[in-house]
Amino acid sequence: MSTPPQTQGRVTVRTLRTMRHDQQPITMLTAYDFPTAEILDAAGVDVLLVGDSLGMVVAGHPDTLSVTVEQMIYHGEMVARAARRAMVVIDLPFPEGSRRPQRTLDVAAKILKATSAQAVKLEGGVEQAERIACLVGAGIPVMGHIGLQPQSVHVDGGYGVKRDVDAIVADAEAIEQAGAFAIVIECVSREIGRAVTGALTVPTIGIGAGPDVSGQVLVTHDLIGLYGGHRAKFVRRLADVRGEMRRAAEEFVGAVQSRDYPNDGESFR
Ligand code: KIV
Repeated sequence: MSTPPQTQGRVTVRTLRTMRHDQQPITMLTAYDFPTAEILDAAGVDVLLVGDSLGMVVAGHPDTLSVTVEQMIYHGEMVARAARRAMVVIDLPFPEGSRRPQRTLDVAAKILKATSAQAVKLEGGVEQAERIACLVGAGIPVMGHIGLQPQSVHVDGGYGVKRDVDAIVADAEAIEQAGAFAIVIECVSREIGRAVTGALTVPTIGIGAGPDVSGQVLVTHDLIGLYGGHRAKFVRRLADVRGEMRRAAEEFVGAVQSRDYPNDGESFR
C-alpha cells in the first residue's frame, strides 16, 4: 500500500524520533501567518509552532495570557495551509491546558479539526501527565513544554531562568511517560538541558537550554528582528526586518510627499 498523500514528505512524530536517534538537530520556529509559514517551510524548518507568543509579538500584549482558542485557530489554519513539509504544532492557550482532561481534549480536537495541524503543545510538567495521557489516548499528538512556562508568569513572578534540576527532570519524565512525543525546554542552564535530554528517549527542543538538546526553537520575530520588546540572552538575531520595514515606509512617505510616487510607469492609461 502506498503512503497516504497527506503524509508524503511531511515531518511526523516518527521523523522527529528518527532525527533524535540519528543525532540530527531538529529545527523549530514560530509562525503565525501564511507567507511566513511558506518561507520557513521552504527554508527547511522541521516544525512550525503556532505559539501563543503571538499574544506578545503580534498583538503587543505584555504576556501570552489573553490569547484565545479562536485566535489560535485563525492563525493555525493559515500556517497549516502554507506548510508542505514541516509539522505544524499549535499551542493550547491559557487556561485550556489546565481544565478537566475531557475539556482540554475537546479544545485540542477542535483546534486540530479546524486547522488541519498535526499536533498541540501543552505547557506544564508532572501536573499535566493525566491530561497528556488523555489527549494521546484519543489520538492527539502532544508536545510538552517545561522549564520556564510563560503561561505561569504571574505565579513565577517573572521570566527568570529555571534552576531546580530534580523538579525539571521529574516533569520531563512524567510527561514522556504520559505519551508526549517531544518536549520543549525553556530557559534552563545548559547542564539542565543536557540532564533532561539524557533522561529521555523523546526529542528535546531547547529555547535558552544550551546546545546539548535534540533541537532548537526560537520565536521568528526575535530571529528576524521584527519584535521590538525585550531580547533574551539566548536570542540570535539574524536579520533586521524592523529596520528594513521602517526604511521602506520612510521612503514611501518621502516619495508620496515629494510627488515622486506614483510615476508614469506606475499609473494606468
Ligand atoms: O509560544 C511560543 O512561541 C513558545 C516558544 C517560546 C517555544 O512556546
